[in-house]
Amino acid sequence: MRVAGKPMRTIWPEPDGTVGIIDQTALPHAFTTRRLGTLEEAAHAIRAMLVRGAPLIGVTAAYGVALAMRVDPSDAALEAACRTLAATRPTAVNLRWALDQMRRALAEAPPSERASLAWRRAGELADEDVRVNRAIGEHALPLIAGAARRVRRRVEILTHCNAGWLATVDWGTALAPIYLAHDSGIDVHVWVDETRPRNQGASLTAWELGQHGVPHTVIVDNAGGHLMQHGRVDLCIVGSDRTTASGDVANKIGTYLKALAAYDNGVPFYVTLPSSTIDWSLRDGREIPIEERDSSEVTHLGGVRLTPADSPAANWAFDVTPARLVTALVTERGICPASEGGLRRLFPERR
Ligand code: MRU
Repeated sequence: MRVAGKPMRTIWPEPDGTVGIIDQTALPHAFTTRRLGTLEEAAHAIRAMLVRGAPLIGVTAAYGVALAMRVDPSDAALEAACRTLAATRPTAVNLRWALDQMRRALAEAPPSERASLAWRRAGELADEDVRVNRAIGEHALPLIAGAARRVRRRVEILTHCNAGWLATVDWGTALAPIYLAHDSGIDVHVWVDETRPRNQGASLTAWELGQHGVPHTVIVDNAGGHLMQHGRVDLCIVGSDRTTASGDVANKIGTYLKALAAYDNGVPFYVTLPSSTIDWSLRDGREIPIEERDSSEVTHLGGVRLTPADSPAANWAFDVTPARLVTALVTERGICPASEGGLRRLFPERR
């Protein structure tokens, strides 16, 4: 994607051996890049959400392992690095997937080769993420093109949180087909849920759609149902942080309510995901660990307290949308029903 006309990814190797990232906590007010030089800095960037979004935290973790291997390439250090990074955020399974990929690449290698091998493997995972997201976009594009033919006017798409290029290395998952549709001349408009409490929609999705020139409108999280009742949404497209083998989908808190409203109003609800987001070990979405973040994200906005000082607040960061509310899943291998059969047909090696 482009920032001020210049092609960029969200994470990149710097010539000095550090890892460049965009500090997403500064957007949309400032475009700031940072350099991660140590395992601890990589872990901090994920924990404090300088980088966020399931695919991007996976690739950041891979680079975190590579940074750790420079200092100490021993088995013990490899395990310690994976443990530190795995503990940063619990819901997105891409993090564990990426750490497994790194372990697999390094386990049999002699320690003297691990630093360069880890650096190379992290770069491959980043490149693979770009290819996978582009493929997701191409598979989901006909859903938007079909809606355009059906409605014969601008296609109205609702999205939640940020599942754009900022959440991945490039392209995004939910926003990839929107960029492709816009670029191919389909008239699209995106309703952007603000996504309280961290406002990934208002701050990040709106920013990146704006950079790309895609027409959009930011709405409060509770507006989606109203818009759907009034025929103002043709389809919903969201991302996923963890998808069970049976097609239940964990995504940013509030996704479930949008899926319920879509179901009630006959609006198609699509979930886009790289296969690294599928947790083949789980069948019931209620088993997915849900991150609970600091209550200050709820009680305060921009440093200003919104709630009475003695009112407790709770902050679940994700919820689970049951497969029955999902019209279809879109992966890098294609589209399938949100069901065990659907997923296993696309990924027969998982049978
Ligand atoms: O808490 P975040 O900002 O990391 O949550 C991100 C989301 O919920 C995204 O929708 C999800 O990771 C899909 S990203 C392609």
